Amino acid sequence: MALSQGGKTRDGWSSRSAFILAAIGSAVGLGNLWRFPAEAGANGGGAFVLFYILCVLMIGLPILLSETLIGRHGQASAPESVRRVAKASRVSSHWDILASMGVLAAFMILSFYCVVGGWVLYYIGQFMADIFASGVTGGAFEGRPAEEIEALLPNLFGNGILMVGLNALFLGFTLFFVARGVSGGIELVAKWMMPAFFILLIAITVYGAFGGAFSQTVSYLFTFEPEKLTGPVMLAAVGQAFFSLSLGVAGMITYGGYVGRNVNLGSTSAIISSADTAVALLAGLCIFPIVFAAGLSVAAGPGLMFQTLPHAFQEMPAGSVVGLLFFIMVGFAALTSSVALLEVPTAWLIDKFRFVRPVSASIVAGGAMILGALAALSFNELADWHPLDFIPLFAGQGFFDVLDGITAKLLMPIGALLTALFIGWFADRKLVDLENGLGGWLHLFWLFLVRFVCPIALIGILVVGIFPGMF
Ligand code: PFF
Repeated sequence: MALSQGGKTRDGWSSRSAFILAAIGSAVGLGNLWRFPAEAGANGGGAFVLFYILCVLMIGLPILLSETLIGRHGQASAPESVRRVAKASRVSSHWDILASMGVLAAFMILSFYCVVGGWVLYYIGQFMADIFASGVTGGAFEGRPAEEIEALLPNLFGNGILMVGLNALFLGFTLFFVARGVSGGIELVAKWMMPAFFILLIAITVYGAFGGAFSQTVSYLFTFEPEKLTGPVMLAAVGQAFFSLSLGVAGMITYGGYVGRNVNLGSTSAIISSADTAVALLAGLCIFPIVFAAGLSVAAGPGLMFQTLPHAFQEMPAGSVVGLLFFIMVGFAALTSSVALLEVPTAWLIDKFRFVRPVSASIVAGGAMILGALAALSFNELADWHPLDFIPLFAGQGFFDVLDGITAKLLMPIGALLTALFIGWFADRKLVDLENGLGGWLHLFWLFLVRFVCPIALIGILVVGIFPGMF
C-alpha cells in the first residue's frame, strides 16, 4: 500500500494483518528457537521462564509500543522518524542518536545473525544428504556414533571457506526479499513463511509430545523455584526478552514507519509480543521432550539446538525427516528476522542519500558480508584475533563474540533506555496519546512503565552488563 506523507507517497504494508505478520516475523527468529530454549535450559527452567514473561510484559511490551509509535508518527527511516517526533514535541532533534545507534546495531547484528543462518543451511544440507543415503523411515544419521553427530558443528567451525560461503548464501536470500520492497518483498516473505513456520512448529511439537517426555518438560519449564532466581538468571531473562522482541535497534521504529493511520498500535503491539512469547514457549515444548526422551541434558547452552537435538533425532522414527523439517522451520524464522535487520539500514540509506532500494540494500548487504566473513573466520583462521583485547569487557573474545557483546550489552540497552526516556519524559503528550491507541488506566499504567520501570531496569542491565564482576 502506498502511504502518503507530506505530499509524497511511500511504499507501506498492504493491511494491518500484513504488518502484524511482518513484525512477528521480525521478532520470531533464532532468538526464540535457538537462544530461548538454550537460556532456559542453562538457567534452571521455571524461574527463568516466569521471570522472562514478566520482563516481556513490564519492559518489552511498553518499549515495543514506544518504538512503533515513533515510526508511525514519522513515516520515515528510523532517525528521521525520531527527528519528526522531536520537532512536533519542540525538543532537540539530537534525540535521533537513539535511532542512529539502532541502525548501527541492526547492521552489526545482521552480520553475525547471517553467520548462524549459514549454520542452519548446513544442517538442512546434512539432513537432506541423510535422507538421500538412507531413506525416510529410520532415525536420523542411523548407525553413526553420537560423537560423530555432535562433531558436525565443530567440523563446520573448522572450515572457514564453507562458513563464509554459507553466510553469503543466507545474506543473498535476505537481500533478494529486501530489494523487492516493503509490500512486494518483505511482506511476501512474512505472508508465506510465517504460516508455514507455525504449522511446522505445532506439528513437530505434537509429534514430540507423543513420543517424548512431555510432562517432564512442562514441570521443568513451569515450576517456579524462587531460589533459582539469581541475579545472572534475571539478567539473562531481560536480555533475552529484548533480543527476542527485536527492541533497541530501531527495527520496530522502521517497521512502524510503514503502518497506516487507522491501525491501533496498542492492541497490535500486544498481539506481536504475545505471539513472540508463545513461540518461545512452544519452542521449549517442542525441543525439550525430544531431548529428555533421548536421555540427554537440556543444559547444553548454545549447543542444544545444533548438537544435542540432532543427536536426539537419531532415536526418533522418521527422525531424519523431522530433523529436516525442524531446520527448514528454523531457516524460515531466521530469514524473516534477517530481512528486518537488513531493512533498518536500507531504509536509512534510501532516506539519507536517495539511493534506489536495490542499491541501498546491496550496499548494506555487501558491508554485512565483509563483517560476517570476519565473524565466520573468528571460529577458525582468525581464532587468535581478539580485536578489542584492550577493553576488559571484550578481552580475549573473537570477532563474532565482540559483535554480539557490543550489541547485546551496550547498543541495545542504551537504544531502549533512550527510547523510554524520550517517549516517557520528552515527547509531546498529545502526540503520544493520539498515536498509542490506549485509553484510561491502561494508558496511565503504560506511561508509568515507560517513565519509571523501563529506565530503572535498563540502567540495571547496563551496569551489570558492563561490570559483571561487581555483582
Ligand atoms: N528478534 C530476532 C530473534 O529473536 O531472532 C532477532 C532480531 C531481529 C533482533 C530483528 C533485532 C531485529 F531488529
